[in-house]
Amino acid sequence: MKIVTLLNEKGGVGKTTLATHIATGMAIRGLRVLLVDADPQGHATVALGLPKEPGLYDLLVRDATFKTVLRFIPTKAYQIPNQTVTGQLFVIPSNVETRNIANSISDSFAVVERFRELENAFDLVVFDTSPTPSLLHGSIYLATDSVIYPTTCEYLSFDGLVESIKHRQAADAPRQQWGLSAIEVMGIVPTMFRTKTIEHSENLKQLQSQFGELVWEAIPQRTIWAEAAAIRRPVFNFAPESAATKDAWKLVDRVQEALASVR
Ligand SMILES: Nc1ncnc2c1ncn2[C@@H]1O[C@H](COP(=O)(O)OP(=O)(O)OP(=O)(O)O)[C@@H](O)[C@H]1O
Ligand SMILES: [Mg+2]
Repeated sequence: MKIVTLLNEKGGVGKTTLATHIATGMAIRGLRVLLVDADPQGHATVALGLPKEPGLYDLLVRDATFKTVLRFIPTKAYQIPNQTVTGQLFVIPSNVETRNIANSISDSFAVVERFRELENAFDLVVFDTSPTPSLLHGSIYLATDSVIYPTTCEYLSFDGLVESIKHRQAADAPRQQWGLSAIEVMGIVPTMFRTKTIEHSENLKQLQSQFGELVWEAIPQRTIWAEAAAIRRPVFNFAPESAATKDAWKLVDRVQEALASVR
């Protein structure tokens, strides 16, 4: 089981979009996937057609069993029309109570300890996080194998990226004490890229010169993403032949390759 976390302390850069598409894409590809909504906004929960509820809060604070907080997502909610899904997708939902988790857990290892129970139940766990840093993020860092940073090619998004990188690095010391290796950066994904603007192109070059191979292919801005989100479907299901869906598959391919090489 690998735990991959989507992070950027700037809001609206594509964390939830990437988290839901990586989770559904990998389930379509045959993996047993769990998407954990760790954002009080509950957007990943809603994106998969679920009602907001305190799943993660119940798990970490009220000591609920996984059985009571896991929600199964029927394959028709995300499958490519008329194609069988070989994997499975579950979600741990979120609501505003997620905001109180940080004040209510005394142990920063709460997430590691609980998610160890799932070791043989899932192949991949994807955490979608809030843009506002909190002690819950700290606890998620301790459980995470790899991080993906979505970022738009704009200054404030880069600033959020730099802050997120600092916080990830700060988590490496307690991880070491606990005998865990440093968190791997799987990739930095430029999102909502406007191919025709000089500003985006220049900023992408800057990102590439700073982070080199870690920067993945930019995902262009396309209306289909927002349209699919509005009806709570991933693009695989909403518009399987669209350019956005081709971009989404490239992302899933890249994650699949990276997962094969994660320690
Ligand atoms: N490539 C894209 N082209 C056009 N719109 C996009 C693209 N990717 C994401 N969007 C849209 O941008 C909006 C913000 O994306 P998303 O909710 O994934 O960001 P986020 O980082 O999770 O935000 P928050 O920090 O608030 O959690 C959404 O409406 C989403 O549908
Ligand atoms: Mg989000």
